[in-house]
Amino acid sequence: MPRLRTLAVHAGQRPEPHTGALAQPIFQTSTFVYGDFERGRRLFAGEEAGYLYTRIQNPTTRAFEEKLAALEGGEDAVAFTSGMAAIAALAFTLLKPGDELVYLGPLYGGTEGFFYDTLARFGIRITDATERPLAEALGPDTRLIYVETPANPTLRVHDLAEVARLARARGIRSVADNTFATPALTRPLELGIDLVVHSATKYLSGHGDTLGGAVVGPAELVDEIRAEGLRHLGGAQSPFDAFLLLRGMKTLVLRMEAHSEGAMRVARFLEGHPAVRRVYYPGLESHPGHAVAARQMRAFGGMVALELGSEAAARAFLDRLRYFAQAVSLGDVDSLATHPYSTTHQLVSEEVRLRQGVTPGLVRLSVGLEDPEDLIEDLERALARAAALEAG
Ligand SMILES: Cc1ncc(COP(=O)(O)O)c(C=O)c1O
Repeated sequence: MPRLRTLAVHAGQRPEPHTGALAQPIFQTSTFVYGDFERGRRLFAGEEAGYLYTRIQNPTTRAFEEKLAALEGGEDAVAFTSGMAAIAALAFTLLKPGDELVYLGPLYGGTEGFFYDTLARFGIRITDATERPLAEALGPDTRLIYVETPANPTLRVHDLAEVARLARARGIRSVADNTFATPALTRPLELGIDLVVHSATKYLSGHGDTLGGAVVGPAELVDEIRAEGLRHLGGAQSPFDAFLLLRGMKTLVLRMEAHSEGAMRVARFLEGHPAVRRVYYPGLESHPGHAVAARQMRAFGGMVALELGSEAAARAFLDRLRYFAQAVSLGDVDSLATHPYSTTHQLVSEEVRLRQGVTPGLVRLSVGLEDPEDLIEDLERALARAAALEAG
């Protein structure tokens, strides 16, 4: 089997048969002619494979699906227009009224909102098992265990092999959101997880210029999710977005190594700074999930969070940063900084936010690919400002 860097370049790619084009062309077409009546009948009956309509499948999107499936070590993948479209398609395909979804948090605020605001409205019970033993939270109606690791925004690490073991023992399906780690660092399917979901918008793209989502796993399940999620719900990925993702993913492994190296240096610097009360980074020995992360991650990723003690200190720090742009999203070559309490997690209840460490003083950094020394100097300047404010 080719290694990850080779898969990142070659998987899903073959020279275009008519012209020999090496880079995957953008098939910017909504429909595909089937030539004659009989072929149309066969295509629709599933008696012959072929493209019909871009909402169901498109050659550029298909190349993205094949590359991602190869990187994750999954049988197949299905692409969506965004991470949320992928998560919604998965949930609406695999759950029905009366079922229970158990999750380990924290989760991306949008995912948590979708569970409680939308799925619950369709009669699906949502159970948060973050603060108790997972085995005790599983009941006769549990159909899905959902986990994100490292989790947004405090980089909490969950033991994927353990989640998979518990799920399999009870015939429950497990899903891991692998957006933060990517297959360059963690391959959940190898650890026994049934399905992986992605916000491809983040590290898979890597350049902050597109949206995308995907579900990866066994072909039979992926087929089901494609049929329901694309035929009925319709959140298909555009060929142009797939093209950008294919381009970004060629350098995924190299980028993840550089993001991880930069984030480790940033985390060590922050850990030694007197104005920083706490640093969350799975690569630090002080992180409660470090041992599990060391087992299931090849490196520790590009996301770091820091606690500055108050909203005033966080505000002063954020407003002083030069290379870290204040914006949501993550995983870009550009460094980004967010204040989860007042932005991404604003809709999560105060009690849950505080319990999960999403405090007014918390700042989340997505460490980009600038020189880590420049990033550290930037952080140092901004921290001096925050410290002066705290002192004064
Ligand atoms: C971990 C995680 N999962 C899913 C999503 C949703 O993805 P998208 O914004 O592509 O819909 C996000 C977005 O921030 C995320 O951080």
